[in-house]
Amino acid sequence: MDPSPDITPVEHRVALCDRERRNAHQGGVLWLTGLSGAGKTTLAFALEERLFRDGLQVYVLDGDNVRHGLNADLGFSRADRGENIRRAGEVAALFADAGVLCIAAFISPYREDRAAARAAAPGRFHEVYVRADLATCERRDPKGLYRRARAGEIANFTAVDDIYEPPEDPSLTVDTTENDIECCIAMLVDYVRTRFQPEGGPGVSRAPALRSQS
Ligand code: ADX
Repeated sequence: MDPSPDITPVEHRVALCDRERRNAHQGGVLWLTGLSGAGKTTLAFALEERLFRDGLQVYVLDGDNVRHGLNADLGFSRADRGENIRRAGEVAALFADAGVLCIAAFISPYREDRAAARAAAPGRFHEVYVRADLATCERRDPKGLYRRARAGEIANFTAVDDIYEPPEDPSLTVDTTENDIECCIAMLVDYVRTRFQPEGGPGVSRAPALRSQS
């Protein structure tokens, strides 16, 4: 979408590197994609709590939450999902620009839309595939939506009567059928530590057990 030629962007007088120095970690987008019921929301909020406790500036953008406000006008057609991810990608990029680690949790089933979200935060977008097979997600069915989709009460439900395109080359894959939540969180924390705090930063502890011993 091209902006009007009559508007001119303004430079910030606070540089991103200064924000990052103060935070002692980089800003960026950790984009969690996967089926409904794969565990994106659970992992996102647990990771947020853990990283916040460790001193990071971190915030979750979650599909269900964002669809209650900014994206309350959008449904689940192809076009609406595209717009949902476009807006979410832009907001996530603003957080990254503010020096925050933004954890975005959206099904985001289409590669094209995820590529657009990546393009909104160049060099700062990390795609994480939260993988769980459909049978497992249907068995979990935390909101009863798969049952309703199978009963024909919800249309265009991802992986039931709409497609999901898995990432081709994700930065990280966490498989929630093979690993418990703690193990998945440990993988995510390790990833954040290496990619967002290459020089250490305020210290993201690797495991809660190690913290309580010290
Ligand atoms: S996305 O496909 O546009 O990325 P998003 O992550 O924002 O989806 O929202 C997904 C949530 O909306 C699901 O967790 C589920 O609770 C709910 N939902 C309602 N209708 C659908 C549908 N047709 N397909 C998938 N999820 C749906």
